[in-house]
Amino acid sequence: MPLVTTRQLLDEAAKGGYGVGAFNVNDMEQIQAIMWAAKETNSPVIIQASRGARKFAEDNYLYHLMLAAAELNPEIPLAMHLDHGNSFETCESAIKLGFTSVMMDGSLKPDGKTPASFEENVAVTKQVVDYAHEHGISVEGEIGVLGGIEDGHGAGGSGLDHVTDPDQAVEFAERTGVDSLAIAIGTSHGAYKFTKKPDGSVLKMDLLIAIHKRLPNTHLVMHGSSSVPKDLQDVINQYGGKLKETWGVPVEEIQLGIKNGVRKINVDTDNRLAITGAIRKVLFETPEKFDPRDYLTPARAAMQKVVALRMTQFGQAGHASDYKATSIADMAKGYKSGSLVTKPLVAK
Ligand code: G3H
Ligand code: 13P
Ligand code: ZN
Repeated sequence: MPLVTTRQLLDEAAKGGYGVGAFNVNDMEQIQAIMWAAKETNSPVIIQASRGARKFAEDNYLYHLMLAAAELNPEIPLAMHLDHGNSFETCESAIKLGFTSVMMDGSLKPDGKTPASFEENVAVTKQVVDYAHEHGISVEGEIGVLGGIEDGHGAGGSGLDHVTDPDQAVEFAERTGVDSLAIAIGTSHGAYKFTKKPDGSVLKMDLLIAIHKRLPNTHLVMHGSSSVPKDLQDVINQYGGKLKETWGVPVEEIQLGIKNGVRKINVDTDNRLAITGAIRKVLFETPEKFDPRDYLTPARAAMQKVVALRMTQFGQAGHASDYKATSIADMAKGYKSGSLVTKPLVAK
């Protein structure tokens, strides 16, 4: 299947009542791990790259690896998504390169650190939506700010500092016409999200449910959704790592989110943990080894295992063959004619 838009994947997920994992990549092995997991579980999938990933891998390498992934897996609906675009120019360059969806994270200023005002967020997001839809590309916006900092991106602080206001979420969706909406409900990027198993005082599932009630047809996105499993932490620490005790987002909370409008779930950290643990194990147990394939092979397998499990838990497993690709040109026509609805349904 050619690369398709995230909008198509999420519309289908809404019909089927499941969520779709969006997994971050920086290199070939991570792309392979995701595609092998998608094949193993017959799942549609979103592969996403941050600005840091684009810099690390170089745009053209990344894009051609994604084309290879689509070519080798014609049965898998696959979207190539820009994660946390910081400006119109970043989103525009991703669309020109061939990304099939972009996130305009206008919750932060272009420095990727300072929270932006509501009006600034609406203005830049709407600018990206207008450009992207004209080109048949779908857009994710963010209202509210996540906690933590990853690779220099993020406002820092606790996930509770800037949670989403439901009234603002409604106004934002109405004024921007985004295809999906990332909300802040107490999560943070990275491994250090919670200091104990999260309850409703720190992970605001009630807020997510309230937003879903107001915007029942809007595809919600959960960022910072790694579960940071203890077994993956333990492997790293067993082989010389120094992770502090930490908790992520329990899978059952994500599943509750999926029952309440969450259609895209962002996962990066769990895969980073799996890869690092597997590499540490090989290098610790067999220090004489130096062929990268000796540690990248188990690292890729460890990531495939995590991704396949999440695909099953999010419910996307088994849904790859439910539908055919809609071309980007047809998506552009759909946005223009209004058959692809961008005005949210708003309930009181
Ligand atoms: O948004 C956070 C993702 O985990 C990507 O992280 O900016 O370090 O590539 P990164
Ligand atoms: P994690 O750090 O929880 O994996 O979140 C990743 C993310 O939200 C990418 O946008
Ligand atoms: Zn994120």
